[in-house]
Amino acid sequence: MAPRNPLRASKVILLLALSAASTSVSASRSPGFPFVINTWGGAFTAATDAAYHALIANRNTSALDGVEIGCATCEKNQCDTTVGYGGSPDESCETTLDAMIMDGTTMKTGAVAGLRRIKDAIGVARAVLEYTRHSLLVGDLATNFATENGFKEQDLTTEASREKCEAWKRANCQSNYRLNVAPDPNTSCGPYTPLPDIEQQTLIRSVMEDEGAASHDTISMVVIHESGVMAAGTSTNGASHKVPGRVGDGPIVGSGSYVDGEVGGCGATGDGDIMMRFLPCYQAVENLRQGMSPQGAAEDSVARMLRKYPNMSSGIVVVNNKGEHGGAGSGWTFTYSFRGGAMEATEVVSVPPLPRRLEERRQTYDMPEEI
Ligand SMILES: *[C@@H]1O[C@H](CO)[C@@H](O)[C@H](O)[C@H]1NC(C)=O
Ligand SMILES: *[C@@H]1O[C@H](CO)[C@@H](O)[C@H](O)[C@H]1NC(C)=O
Ligand SMILES: *[C@@H]1O[C@H](CO)[C@@H](O)[C@H](O)[C@H]1NC(C)=O
Repeated sequence: MAPRNPLRASKVILLLALSAASTSVSASRSPGFPFVINTWGGAFTAATDAAYHALIANRNTSALDGVEIGCATCEKNQCDTTVGYGGSPDESCETTLDAMIMDGTTMKTGAVAGLRRIKDAIGVARAVLEYTRHSLLVGDLATNFATENGFKEQDLTTEASREKCEAWKRANCQSNYRLNVAPDPNTSCGPYTPLPDIEQQTLIRSVMEDEGAASHDTISMVVIHESGVMAAGTSTNGASHKVPGRVGDGPIVGSGSYVDGEVGGCGATGDGDIMMRFLPCYQAVENLRQGMSPQGAAEDSVARMLRKYPNMSSGIVVVNNKGEHGGAGSGWTFTYSFRGGAMEATEVVSVPPLPRRLEERRQTYDMPEEI
């Protein structure tokens, strides 16, 4: 769409020029193709390696295959118990899974949310992409679809996840995600009922202050095939002690991850309930399209969320279609992993949090006025 206001257009160009110049972390060069990049280091590097090896071993391994293999590795390994079975029990102690996979050539996506009793969430997301014209299936009915497609129904609860949930209940269900309900969610377990309007004037909040910073929570991955074809995907078991039925950013296109092979891709992690309001990965890929570096694109996308939620935890990793990459985060030291070309091992990049306050962000990153 042509800009209606030439002044505004020139402002945009100025912003982009400033932003490109602002990149404080050195632009990360591409190690070559095939290329794999994903959120977090540590246990999550096993996913990077699995996808990379599958792509190197056989040219017939597609970008989508790479994403599926990588995310499935974290589902099997229960990376930080935040991906796959046996982690993040909800208020009723059940683990449910969210996953999404996206084809950067056709823009087709497949996703599942609130998937129950099936371990292979990314596999079921891939089946939604391959065997339906839909994009997202949810809950028990997604489970039915999965079993029809040959996936095995299994209990996702483990001793560890049951104990975590029971310990939380013994601690009066602290902390939790309930708001403006009685009994006081700061001190009591449910069942809860909404506070009448009048009492809401004295809004009582129960905030998950430390939860985000304490636990990594999602694998999001972008893959570039040797041919340059791109794909992206996400898999997670969501937030611990969530209200049953809660779906986060993971399976939401443009939030958990996003890819357009003509431009690049992005993977995200963090306070999902907040992040999904901003579509940070869609924003980052559009930033690339407008000419920003991967680093600048990531920083701008995170800064937009910080403007409204300065205390949130977030991390996004961005790669353009040449394999140049960058990341940005807030509220914690975010890390991401990548491996490409002839690299002999996966490398982990540590990303310091963007400052909470705009003034400090400007000092550190020479950021333009935020839109
Ligand atoms: C790749 O796929 C093609 C077409 O199915 C097949 O002919 C070829 O043998 C495969 N290559 C490898 C290395 O598996
Ligand atoms: C509930 O928790 C919030 C956040 O920690 C706090 O600001 C508020 O004062 C608490 N309310 C009560 C009634 O303890
Ligand atoms: C962010 O955290 C600081 C320090 O803990 C607090 O003073 C401030 O009110 C918080 N801001 C928001 C918007 O929650």
